Amino acid sequence: MTKDTDTIHTIRWTDAGLELLDQRDLPREENYLLFADVTGVAGAIRDMVVRGAPAIGITAAYGLVLAARQHYAESPQDWRRRLDEDIGLLAAARPTAVNLVWALQRLQHRLAGITGDPAPVLLEEARAIHAEDIEANRRMGAHGAAVIDAGSSVLTYCNTGSLATGGYGTALGVIRSAWAAGKLQQVYASETRPWLQGARLTAWELVRDRIPVTLITDNAAGYLMQGRRVQWVITGADRVTANGDVINKIGTSSLAVNCRHYGVGFMVVAPCSTLDFSLDSGALVDIEQRADAEVLVLADRRIAAAGATAWNPAFDVTPAELVDCLVTEQGVIRAPDRAKLAVLEPGFGNSG
Ligand code: MRU
Repeated sequence: MTKDTDTIHTIRWTDAGLELLDQRDLPREENYLLFADVTGVAGAIRDMVVRGAPAIGITAAYGLVLAARQHYAESPQDWRRRLDEDIGLLAAARPTAVNLVWALQRLQHRLAGITGDPAPVLLEEARAIHAEDIEANRRMGAHGAAVIDAGSSVLTYCNTGSLATGGYGTALGVIRSAWAAGKLQQVYASETRPWLQGARLTAWELVRDRIPVTLITDNAAGYLMQGRRVQWVITGADRVTANGDVINKIGTSSLAVNCRHYGVGFMVVAPCSTLDFSLDSGALVDIEQRADAEVLVLADRRIAAAGATAWNPAFDVTPAELVDCLVTEQGVIRAPDRAKLAVLEPGFGNSG
């Protein structure tokens, strides 16, 4: 086994439909669920069978292929209207990850001028989005790893690996690349309450790749940095706005504040499909609120005192000025701001 391996395929297109590795069951069980219709796919995104911004976008694209197949077979005259409804259904499944609407818009553009069966064209586009995402991740891995000094230790947050993308990962791709280059001494993963993407998913991916991983509780991060145990905190993003604000898993902004206080580098790794220049700043982003139960209940057991309620935003906004490095497939931008971002080709909105 080489150090640089990636054997996890969270999204698989087959003739029977879309297969998704059910991330709710990991790491205990590896179950693939088969989805043959778009309603099921929208539900899978909402219920976190699949999660992570790029993976959600790819899944939605394949979901629209399933919709096109069904609507064209059932109603060759009326498929466009029904497909539009399904675009709305998929787009609403999770509101914060911009890759979702970006992927759907890419497919929508391909529909212009189609007279016959739309499914083959949409499938071609969905496959392209999937392949391009893996390629972007590989590039970001190389760009980000180049910034890291040999002998460094890093902390990562949430899950940004093969499970969250088409393959390889964003922040975890940088960690994979840096590890393959022999640069990393230690990888820490933060548990990531309430859904435990770090403990369940990132740890699972790294252990599979034989990259040693040490878990910390989320509230240990500041102390880890105070002790100079890490040189970089590396995260992904669900959306980056025109001014460079980063919207990512709830808790990311606290990490960035700690990084600045303790002199630890804060690196954000996100493909251009995650850039949304139609929004001026993070304050304008629709932050997904999820069910209280995710906070109040753990492993099917209520842990919170009876009568307590919960506030459960899934994401937060890290101000651009706290980001030391933004890594995209186009390269590394240090101390990103509006002017520096303007050279990038965003998934949404216009550059410049
Ligand atoms: O709620 P999730 O698990 O979908 O949140 C995922 C994240 O916050 C990731 O950091 C982000 O999507 C980037 S993943 C490549």
